[in-house]
Amino acid sequence: MFARSTAARTLAQRAFSSSARAERKVAVLGAGGGIGQPMSLLLKTDPLVTSLSLYDIRGAPGVAADISHVNTKASCKGYEQADIGSALKGAEVVVIPAGVPRKPGMTRDDLFNTNASIVRDLAKACAEHCPKAMICIISNPVNSTVPIFAEVFKKAGVFDPKRLFGVTTLDVVRSSTFLSQIQGTDPKDTRVTVMYVGDILRGGHSGVTIVPLLSQTEVAKGVTGQAYKDLVKRIQFGGDEVVQAKAGTGSATLSMGYAGAIFVNSLIRGMNGEKNVVEPTFVKSPLFESEGVEYFSSNVELGANGVEKIHPVGQLSAEEQELLNACLPDLKKNIAKGVEFAKAS
Ligand code: NAD
Ligand code: LMR
Repeated sequence: MFARSTAARTLAQRAFSSSARAERKVAVLGAGGGIGQPMSLLLKTDPLVTSLSLYDIRGAPGVAADISHVNTKASCKGYEQADIGSALKGAEVVVIPAGVPRKPGMTRDDLFNTNASIVRDLAKACAEHCPKAMICIISNPVNSTVPIFAEVFKKAGVFDPKRLFGVTTLDVVRSSTFLSQIQGTDPKDTRVTVMYVGDILRGGHSGVTIVPLLSQTEVAKGVTGQAYKDLVKRIQFGGDEVVQAKAGTGSATLSMGYAGAIFVNSLIRGMNGEKNVVEPTFVKSPLFESEGVEYFSSNVELGANGVEKIHPVGQLSAEEQELLNACLPDLKKNIAKGVEFAKAS
């Protein structure tokens, strides 16, 4: 709908941006849930998605029947538990928001016990039915579920690190919103802000492992002192705001559905041959490997085979270096926990 042109393109534009057409089957695992439903709806409206396969242990056929009435080109079919093979057959992109969400007082790591085995089992199914698909993991704790998925693929002998992504786009979406609120920018300015902010998140997806690099964006210049500290904290703990406001009924679903649809659109544009498609995402990364951190989120250029190029973190301010120092040990533990779980399974 909108052509990619300048670096100032908005996230909203990105969500519906199209490039060369190719047949692209996208499977959503957990499609009946709070994220799965709105994200599947947005994917149905994405002109780059030609076929949608909606899978859940409950409710997916109903969601698919509903979404299939939306008058866009993509076909849409729902699958129940016994049909996971059919759901995944031919999928080129698999998006996974399956799993339980947080309640107030919980950390993302508190979800590990339930979600680790869900992601492990879905990884086994993907290894069997669509080993070459691009996999986008939303299920928390992302810092651990991505390594779990990778280990299952390694065991099955089908792991390609270029094709596995932890979706951290919601952090970017939030950052742009929070920063533009502070700076009082109008929607036009906010669009510019979004792109800059799109370049500033590093690390993982959970509390202090989210490292906003505000010094790298012009729009954040002048946000200093307590305002800076408050903004960093709000970006790192934005998920908690939603968890508390939902008061026990779940965590971010609608904004995550939006963010997930943006990420998939970018991924497919890269797969379709568009150049310079860059998204921050949590991938197997060399950036901090020497410090024992095997996965990291930084700007990643997306291409025909997934990860095309992992960008470095860039210049850090003294405060940001401190944030990074706080991030790495936690991230390392989260990753190790996922790897150990998968190896022991
Ligand atoms: P939800 O409970 O509303 O939906 C989860 C869905 O997963 C349900 O429909 C459930 O039936 C399904 N499910 C459970 N086990 C399954 C399995 N084995 N196979 C297929 N489907 C299965 O939860 P939600 O609000 O949609 O959140 C889902 C996950 O996404 C949570 O872990 C949450 O923490 C995470 N999340 C991540 C981000 C992020 O930025 N990465 C943002 C928000 C939420
Ligand atoms: C978020 O950032 O909103 C998600 O990771 C869900 C959560 O548990 O906060």
